[in-house]
Amino acid sequence: MSDSPDPKGSLAALPGGMRDAFGRPLRDLRISVMDRCNFRCPYCMPEDIYDRKFRFLSSKQRLSFSEILRLARLLAGLGASKLRITGGEPLLRAGLADLVGDLSRLGGIEDIALTTNGVLLAQQAAALAAAGLDRVTVSLDAVDEELFRRMSGGRGRLRSVLDGMAEARSAGLDPIKINAVVQRGVNDRHVLELVKHFRGSGMILRLIEYMDVGTINNWNASQTVPAEELAERIHRVWPLRALGANYAGEVARRYAFIDGQGELGFITSVTQPFCGACNRARLSSDGRLFTCLFASQGLDLRGPMRAGASDGELLGLMRTCWKERKDRYSELRATEGKMESVIPKVEMYYIGG
Ligand code: GTP
Ligand code: 5AD
Ligand code: SF4
Ligand code: SF4
Repeated sequence: MSDSPDPKGSLAALPGGMRDAFGRPLRDLRISVMDRCNFRCPYCMPEDIYDRKFRFLSSKQRLSFSEILRLARLLAGLGASKLRITGGEPLLRAGLADLVGDLSRLGGIEDIALTTNGVLLAQQAAALAAAGLDRVTVSLDAVDEELFRRMSGGRGRLRSVLDGMAEARSAGLDPIKINAVVQRGVNDRHVLELVKHFRGSGMILRLIEYMDVGTINNWNASQTVPAEELAERIHRVWPLRALGANYAGEVARRYAFIDGQGELGFITSVTQPFCGACNRARLSSDGRLFTCLFASQGLDLRGPMRAGASDGELLGLMRTCWKERKDRYSELRATEGKMESVIPKVEMYYIGG
């Protein structure tokens, strides 16, 4: 394998030209920079499994910033124009603002967002914004202090998450979105409280249907609260009106409060899947490229990269992977019921949301 970049390979990668087996382009690249997290949300990283003995990736196993940058540049050449930095908890990765700065200078990138649990946001928001981050999405499942503590595995303090949002706002990282996963029997009775808290705040709350990601959460369909049911409950108190999508393939279904108090979104991956327009790829922190949130395997790019692969060779691997992509897990789940996968699915903390 040669060390030199392959200009022919780059030129062949006309932006937007690459399509998967169902004709879907690559647009949205989610980069996980850290598999660790300072929370232990029971549906994602239950404390009894992710304890002191659990072996997370070592810093050598994780991609370096220059490796991430190289892969992002190549994927941008294949059509990725929207980046989301995720984890685990991405703010645990030291020097993240440096990476954001480098990513923001890549050609073809229109939007860089970050998904975080918000605890470390207050101290990092200004530096991230100065480096070129456009906006943040904060995961927050409850505004009731006790419930919040339970849902974060006893780790988080609600106050620090709310302070993080406020700092992000002062730093201009908007629109700030709040992602709340709704689980029946856990926080579904507290949803109106969440809506009330964020209505009129200028921040956009999105209620997410609880999904069967990974294998450790022992998902059961009865734990998912259909977005339609939630929308009806909310509409009775604060009438809603449907809004159009901001961009083709937008994940959230948008609604406005009729009284002008802002916007609300529903993410309906279980009851109304959106695989048909899925243009998302996910890069794990150890350099595997996943073409679906529910995949069991990803394309190893770290191995070839560390063995000296040229840009052209890496592009070839990525292009083949995308061209062969036939993922539509959520649609299959909707038509065939619970999917009993023989091969374990990748966990969300490892691949990002
Ligand atoms: P915007 O860029 O702000 O529109 O964000 P987004 O809605 O694309 O992204 P976000 O990462 O905030 O997604 C919110 C949640 O939607 C995730 O945490 C997942 O629970 C779910 N989600 C996002 N992408 C996918 C996907 O490709 N498939 C499925 N099944 N769920 C997804
Ligand atoms: N279903 C839906 N969303 C989930 N998330 C984590 N696990 C699940 C699940 N099983 C969400 C987190 C966070 C984002 C990264 O993904 O709460 O908002
Ligand atoms: Fe919770 Fe997100 Fe951390 Fe998982 S990665 S434990 S969902 S904060
Ligand atoms: Fe995309 Fe897979 Fe999610 Fe469908 S289930 S929207 S293919 S990531």
